[in-house]
Amino acid sequence: MPFSTQDPNVRQDWLTIGSARALAGHAPERPWRTQLLGNTVRAWRDSNGEAIAKTDGRQLPLLERYGYLWVWTGDGPQHPLFALPEFDEHGRRIVDCGGIGVATSGLRVIENFLDMGHFPYVHTGTLGKLPHTEVAPYRVEIDPQTDEIWALDCHFFQPRASASAADGIDAQYRYRVMQPFTAALYKSCPNRADAQDVIGLFVQPLDDEHVIAHVLLVYFEDRLSDAEMIAFQHMIFGQDKPILESHRPRRLPLQGPLESHMRCDFASTTYRRWMRARGMTFGVHTD
Ligand SMILES: [Fe+2]
Repeated sequence: MPFSTQDPNVRQDWLTIGSARALAGHAPERPWRTQLLGNTVRAWRDSNGEAIAKTDGRQLPLLERYGYLWVWTGDGPQHPLFALPEFDEHGRRIVDCGGIGVATSGLRVIENFLDMGHFPYVHTGTLGKLPHTEVAPYRVEIDPQTDEIWALDCHFFQPRASASAADGIDAQYRYRVMQPFTAALYKSCPNRADAQDVIGLFVQPLDDEHVIAHVLLVYFEDRLSDAEMIAFQHMIFGQDKPILESHRPRRLPLQGPLESHMRCDFASTTYRRWMRARGMTFGVHTD
């Protein structure tokens, strides 16, 4: 089956097909199967330990980076994958939280990730708490070198910002959108005042309206077990999932006015404008 879209925003870019751990025990005769852009991808490790991914009998260019598998489905020249230097920083814990299936467009998943306004209502008692509903002013920039979106100087009162947080803090945030389906959050590290923990959100688009959202933690954290860190992220994502899946249409509309007078929406309106300027069609609602 061919891929379901020609949109260069996804066909001419690296897309994750999941954690590299998924390939354990798989060989050419027993491939691991997953889905990407409406097509089945088979993957395994060859006798040299190299990860191989194929679709329709064609081998896809593949990178193994940040503990994840990234494939290039198009024919165009490949550019480098986004940089995440914290991944290689000494002393960081790398915790792969695995993937969660969500029945909506990946664009909605990323947009929700950028939205601090929902914390007190959806993540009550952890990432937010009533009546602390105000989103303080923050800046949004597009890096001219990388074309990545950055939301800077964000902060929000959080009663329990992470699994290891004992008290409420005014959590400092930076958000980053590296690709239409890939984002990262840099937030106050409870254990080190001079550093920020990083949460990577790598969205695997199964098709226009279904994704697997993979979460990777790049933390300075030495008290909690992997299981405790993963459980906290799953609890948070479990609160977002039913809300994300209730939105109609599932695909994200990019038409209509993209300006908002709500300052809490600056990041999401920038994200929508950024995609419209790229001519994004995959996962996008059109009338
Ligand atoms: Fe959320």
